[in-house]
Amino acid sequence: MSHREPPRISLASLPTPIERLTRMSARLGVDLWIKRDDRTGSDLTGNKVRKLEFLLAEAVAAGATVTLTCGGLQSNHARATVVASKRLGLQAHVLLRGTPPETLAGNYLMCHLLGAHIEHITAEQYGRRDQLLAERAEALRARGERPYVVPEGGSNGLGAHGYAVAMGEIEAQADALETAFSTVVTAVGSGGTVAGLVAGYAARPQRRPRPLAVPVCDSAAYFRARVSQVLADMRKRELPVAPEAHPDGALWQDGFVGAGYGRATPGALEAMAELAGEEGVLLDPTYTGKAWHALTALARQGSPVLGKRVLFLHTGGLLGLMARGGTHAEPISEA
Ligand SMILES: Cc1ncc(COP(=O)(O)O)c(C=O)c1O
Repeated sequence: MSHREPPRISLASLPTPIERLTRMSARLGVDLWIKRDDRTGSDLTGNKVRKLEFLLAEAVAAGATVTLTCGGLQSNHARATVVASKRLGLQAHVLLRGTPPETLAGNYLMCHLLGAHIEHITAEQYGRRDQLLAERAEALRARGERPYVVPEGGSNGLGAHGYAVAMGEIEAQADALETAFSTVVTAVGSGGTVAGLVAGYAARPQRRPRPLAVPVCDSAAYFRARVSQVLADMRKRELPVAPEAHPDGALWQDGFVGAGYGRATPGALEAMAELAGEEGVLLDPTYTGKAWHALTALARQGSPVLGKRVLFLHTGGLLGLMARGGTHAEPISEA
């Protein structure tokens, strides 16, 4: 099948740095490195920006006037979509799960400041988010707008392509460092990031790290199926995906979700404090904290799955963390 490189708009500061975690490596007895995708930008930051480079290029090419997307109240994805849309002169309409908060903070505050049209929806409505997005798009069309729907997390084939490309960036950086990474550890929230990494890995498995996927909600079984769907969408769009690309290209690690999406676990909070104290790197309790907890737990068990040289993908989340400040007794609120 013929492949095509899709149009792209530059939104992220790339390449993001790869740094060695010297003190954590010594503590855990594993050679640990971090890829700072939390530094794709300041307000336009985190893993979503790599997806939006392709998604919003499609939106602009289609002549869109407004983007539509969805997420939780503190959705990093919704905030990144709003910032990127506004940068490109598009209106932004977001469906956020939950009632309006009393205090505006973090990602929600930013959506507000950026003048997004915020619509609050219930958990039941969120369950049929794709249908709701399609209905809102239809209503906007009837008003003469040209809407572009970005699915939850930007996690369709086109968004995931951003992380297939990121794998090439990792390979080039590893070459420049005259090293190679055995695994790249990532949090999984809607599946697009890991799907892209799986596609990128399948392109050159001998030169690229194997993704190690840590679900922060649902389960590995659920996300394997999601990754299959995203890979199928990449193929349908004729994006470059090796025939070998398959969810089993990733290693999957269950057991770090805790009480559910957005609910901090004591283990993740402890692991976050250790990284912050040792290396001056902040994570968030919803995504990166759980993935980092899994990595440190596997290292402490002496698990062979990590391999010799591990790259932790810092996917962002700082703005969500800023909305969770608690008390001296409980600095980060659990939910
Ligand atoms: C900070 C952060 N890390 C990781 C993820 C997970 O990425 P994905 O949704 O592509 O699985 C998300 C979004 O869901 C996120 O906001």
